[in-house]
Amino acid sequence: MADSVRELAGAFKRFLAAQEEDEFLTTAAPVRAAVSTPAPAAPAPSTTGELPPMAADSTLDISFVHQHEPTAPTETSTMNKADKTRALAELAQTIASCTRCPLGATRLNAVPGEGNVNADVMFVGEGPGFDEDRQGRPFVGRAGQLLDKMILAMGLTREKVFIANIAKCHPMTDPLHPEKHGNDRAPNAQEIACCRKYIEQQIAIVCPKYVVALGGVAAKALISDAKSLGALRGQFHTLHLDSVELPKPVQIIATFHPAALLRNPNWKKDAWIDLQMVMDKLGLKGARK
Ligand code: URA
Repeated sequence: MADSVRELAGAFKRFLAAQEEDEFLTTAAPVRAAVSTPAPAAPAPSTTGELPPMAADSTLDISFVHQHEPTAPTETSTMNKADKTRALAELAQTIASCTRCPLGATRLNAVPGEGNVNADVMFVGEGPGFDEDRQGRPFVGRAGQLLDKMILAMGLTREKVFIANIAKCHPMTDPLHPEKHGNDRAPNAQEIACCRKYIEQQIAIVCPKYVVALGGVAAKALISDAKSLGALRGQFHTLHLDSVELPKPVQIIATFHPAALLRNPNWKKDAWIDLQMVMDKLGLKGARK
């Protein structure tokens, strides 16, 4: 009896340690794997938002997600670095005063996104959490620290990429208490629809070669509402935007959200396969040979 209790305690300790595991390559893969063939489908339940479970209203009313008000076209095809910087700054100002959805009333700070305006790779998450809401910057909490490691593992740095979210304000389960931890939820369909033009304009302005959608919310919003993350990841898709024209074709790949990888370190190897597909296209050797 004592033995089995000790065994159970040991197993539980190992489980907690795995949850705490925030390295990327150590659990993803010791060496680069060949990735010429499409990656296998993700294990269930790897499908939806990788932050805390979606709010009831985000069982997506799919038609709504792609509805948007027409926006003034942004001329992105001839932009130089200064033009891009200016356009992104203007967009960030618009986002900072946005009240198109109720999140505008409860956020501490809008989180437009940041990074290299000429980035080859743009990472898109679902929406700011507690830390991001406080700092006004994307992916600065625990999930962000893992994302930094994923970026480094690819042989890139945060300064070389652009990082943004689908939703620009913190979706909270309890909006009356923004100071509470664990108060995160995925953005719902209305919030995604209201924010959609912002991420679309950011993508069109930066015009990266590759967008990496982090998690099911970003993947569904940018690639296909109808499919699960498991069905979308492991392959490139051509990105089509609703509200702006892209100056040149952009490829998008979906992978697991870093927050999901913190909870399920065994998914890191599939995430690493997805990232290596981008690395292969860009000729990146990665942090490890
Ligand atoms: N999760 C996200 O999707 N985005 C962030 O900026 C932080 C956590």
